[in-house]
Amino acid sequence: MPGYLVEDGRKVTTKRLQEMKQAGKKIAMLTAYDYTTARIVDGAGVDVVLIGDSASNVMAGHVTTLPMTVDQMIYHASSVVRGVKRALVVCDMPFGSYQVCAEDAVRNAIRIMKESGCDALKLEGGVEILDAVKKILDAGIPVCGHLGLTPQSINKFGTYAVRAQEEAEAEKLLSDAEALAEAGCFAIVLEKIPAALTQQVACAVDVPVIGIGGGPADGQVLVIDDMLGKNKDFSPKFLRRYADLHTVMTDAIGQYVTDVKSGDFPSAAESY
Ligand code: KIV
Repeated sequence: MPGYLVEDGRKVTTKRLQEMKQAGKKIAMLTAYDYTTARIVDGAGVDVVLIGDSASNVMAGHVTTLPMTVDQMIYHASSVVRGVKRALVVCDMPFGSYQVCAEDAVRNAIRIMKESGCDALKLEGGVEILDAVKKILDAGIPVCGHLGLTPQSINKFGTYAVRAQEEAEAEKLLSDAEALAEAGCFAIVLEKIPAALTQQVACAVDVPVIGIGGGPADGQVLVIDDMLGKNKDFSPKFLRRYADLHTVMTDAIGQYVTDVKSGDFPSAAESY
């Protein structure tokens, strides 16, 4: 197994994530949207691959995640599934696919599972979507919750500022997390909230809490394009850049352009 910290090649399951939390082992989660990237992410030892609706931003160039459709999520998720052997594959349910009613939600959830072959789904929201979450769980589909700065509600928030800094919002977030865990969610993502609140939630629920801009938790998730430094204009405080692919790619592509224009490429050795 080429992964750096992978202990074994066994497929990661929701049960295994639960065991990792109990054993105090951190969970590494990362997004992917295509087959080739998914193979690299899985081979490097990531435990959970998320087909985030952040594909809307980083793949399609939209300002928000709202335009993503069920068909588009299925396209990205099925490409990722073909590239993953070990990690648990979780797909976001896009905006509008689970908020109308629980029946609609379970219909869309079953479609995504059937047509993409992913292992689990992620939904944004607390008690407001609890009926939908329960119905999807009743259909045998594992659900990951997502609370805090939930990007599908950006128009309601009107800002990307840290959420749950006020006591009332923090209390609601805690009770939403407890309700999701009690309903049977296998994990909960907490986005851009105070680190102390993340700790409180992680102690209150027995399912793994995965942070993004939430400080230390049972695990962490980042958007792959951001952590690889493909995107120069997105630099929130919580983002650690592990590479500068923007520079690497620009230099490589620039060299290719130079070589084509000078006639250096292709050489005799690169010709038939
Ligand atoms: O869409 C996404 O990539 C996400 C992560 C940022 C958690 O939901």
